[in-house]
Amino acid sequence: MPTPLYSSDSFHRACRGEPVRQTPIWLMRQAGRYMAEYRALREHHPILEMMKNPECAADVTLQPVNAFDVDAAIIFADILTLLEPMGLDLEFIPGRGPVFHNPIQCGEDVRRLASVRPETDLAFTLEAIRITRERLDGRIPLIGFSGAPFTLACYAIQGGGSKDFDDVRGWMYRNPAAFTDLMDRLTEAVIAYLLAQIDAGAQALQLFDSWAGSLSQSEYARRAAPYTRRIFEALEGAVPTIHFSANGGHLLEQIADMPVSVIGVDWRPDPGQVLNRLGRDTVVQGNLDPALLLSSDEAMLEGMKQVLEGFSPAKGHIFNLGHGVIKTTPPERVKLLVDSVHACTAHAPSPGAERAES
Ligand code: CP3
Repeated sequence: MPTPLYSSDSFHRACRGEPVRQTPIWLMRQAGRYMAEYRALREHHPILEMMKNPECAADVTLQPVNAFDVDAAIIFADILTLLEPMGLDLEFIPGRGPVFHNPIQCGEDVRRLASVRPETDLAFTLEAIRITRERLDGRIPLIGFSGAPFTLACYAIQGGGSKDFDDVRGWMYRNPAAFTDLMDRLTEAVIAYLLAQIDAGAQALQLFDSWAGSLSQSEYARRAAPYTRRIFEALEGAVPTIHFSANGGHLLEQIADMPVSVIGVDWRPDPGQVLNRLGRDTVVQGNLDPALLLSSDEAMLEGMKQVLEGFSPAKGHIFNLGHGVIKTTPPERVKLLVDSVHACTAHAPSPGAERAES
């Protein structure tokens, strides 16, 4: 049995828009190749093998937790493993990234997809969540995640990565009924997967819709938003939820209109403008340019201050990068960033924060 939610931590308090002693911070892709500890393990194991071995996945999840004073852990998994039990044959090819050997090409391919039973099909990630919760022992909360249907559809149709997924949008326009069928099936799979992650002990959930930004506002409203909304409706009231999309600045109002706790923002929009558009009664996550960690300490800290100041009027702010940690990032920079976010915000607690958190 997982131990109960530790809802007084700063991450959860920020998710609920409650005052915090210092701004919580975690980083997307905080486990990964920029860490020597990760590369050492990775030398001996292919990435999928690491994710499918629950002890190993728990070890990797905890690497950044042990190295940096982050305020949340995120389970080591990948958005693409959900597509395997549906019948898509996944391989991570070194130097090329993920590849599906049998991408979806027609409506018949969609109809052949299997439905997912997370407790058996994705037992490795659920077990990794249980082990990680035990090892964390309540120190910080554990975030689970899934890809959103549109982003999963992008990889399933493209058969791998792409710089813009133009061909996927072309397929979508040519095969609207098959696309809807695919989105329906992915939505059911994501809901089952995320509910199973909650059962296993995930204390918050992030939905990655990394490629939603490739859709226009009206196409997003029609072809992606209803499915994402259905997912957040299914999770409402269970654990805090976070939405993330890259390049999705034009979609922020539509996303904020969903029953989601936290709006993730990539590094492109200005924090002040985000709040002007969404209102201050919003909880945001983001949005430092990850490339600033490849810059100087001074430039990174200047960027950090702008993000902190820009989002300070928001009801809640979880500091994060505007996308994942880049693999050439010096780990010392991550440490400096985490410590500096804490140090800079500890001096200006919101009213009532000391009382609330003690
Ligand atoms: O944030 C974390 O620390 C948790 C782990 C995590 C991974 N993938 C591990 C991983 C998370 C949250 C993801 C999500 C993911 N995976 C997304 C959405 C977020 C985003 O970046 O937009 C997407 C699009 C994927 C698909 C994916 N996985 C790609 C395109 C690649 C190859 C490109 C790359 O960055 O290497 C992966 C591989 C992957 N997933 C790695 C890690 C640590 C690198 C694998 C390696 O060690 O070679």
